[in-house]
Amino acid sequence: MSFTQTLQEYIQMVNQQLEEYLPKKSNLQHVVDDAMAYSVEAGGKRLRPVLTLEVCRMLGGEIQHALPFACAVEMIHSSSLIHDDLPCMDDDELRRGKPSCHIAFGEANALLAGDALLLYAFEVMAKAHQTHGTGYEEIAKGIETLSHCAGTDGMVGGQVIDLTYENQRIEYEILHQMHLLKTGALIRAACQLGAIAAKASPEQIQQIGAYAETLGLAFQICDDILDVVGDQQLLGKPIGSDEQMQKTNFITLFGLEGSRQKAAELTELAKQQLRQFDHPEFLLELTDMLLERKK
Ligand code: IPE
Ligand code: IPE
Ligand code: MG
Ligand code: MG
Ligand code: MG
Repeated sequence: MSFTQTLQEYIQMVNQQLEEYLPKKSNLQHVVDDAMAYSVEAGGKRLRPVLTLEVCRMLGGEIQHALPFACAVEMIHSSSLIHDDLPCMDDDELRRGKPSCHIAFGEANALLAGDALLLYAFEVMAKAHQTHGTGYEEIAKGIETLSHCAGTDGMVGGQVIDLTYENQRIEYEILHQMHLLKTGALIRAACQLGAIAAKASPEQIQQIGAYAETLGLAFQICDDILDVVGDQQLLGKPIGSDEQMQKTNFITLFGLEGSRQKAAELTELAKQQLRQFDHPEFLLELTDMLLERKK
């Protein structure tokens, strides 16, 4: 099967499972269920769940065992986007090609939908043995990894640094740390969850984590670049948002060309890190594709 076919197959698998996990309800609180489904089902690239599934396959695991983990990481990612767009954070009105969650459902519902998605991710993981036959030990390790990477030593911590340094000069070390946490941590969790589902060794989990951190950094630098030169129609989110919020990012420190060069260097390093594994072909292609992405 070609790279594109495999990618489409993974995305379809994830979308189908997410739809099953997020049923439309008709209870009193359905507005929050609707808001959760609205944001998750709006799509997006599904990069993180694709990484989870492919790492599991690459390391010889059963993809079915990794599917609840893949959906959980996408739920947490989607919750982070809902909160990231709120007026108290980046104040953006467009996400995944549709009005942001708080524009469609109001701020309070968006806040609660983000909270509920974050929690539902762990419910889905906790039930992975019953639903997909994932081992209990893998579930416990998976929950430990994902909760750590989403929290103050991960995505939340990175968002705090991002907001703290709005409109301020930033040292390179802090910028690096911010990107590693706000974006790198969930990408690392996505890869490591795939390895955990495949019952990989601690050494393999560590190695795939190192690749994921490099990829995560390159990915956020590309995100910063697209915020300047991207096409809003393709991206599905506003461009110029970082400048408007006076964000300090790779562009402010290194300019467009410097940032492009950094992203290219990190992509090369990520590919080197991948070559330690047998059959990294799919991930090599994915890593290259992300450097050239337009959305
Ligand atoms: C956007 O992530 C936020 C970042 C961490 C850069 P993605 O670019 O993966 O967004 P979707 O999931 O495709 O919408
Ligand atoms: C995203 O960084 C980090 C998250 C954890 C959501 P950005 O604020 O640059 O992401 P976009 O550009 O709004 O998607
Ligand atoms: Mg932000
Ligand atoms: Mg933002
Ligand atoms: Mg951005």
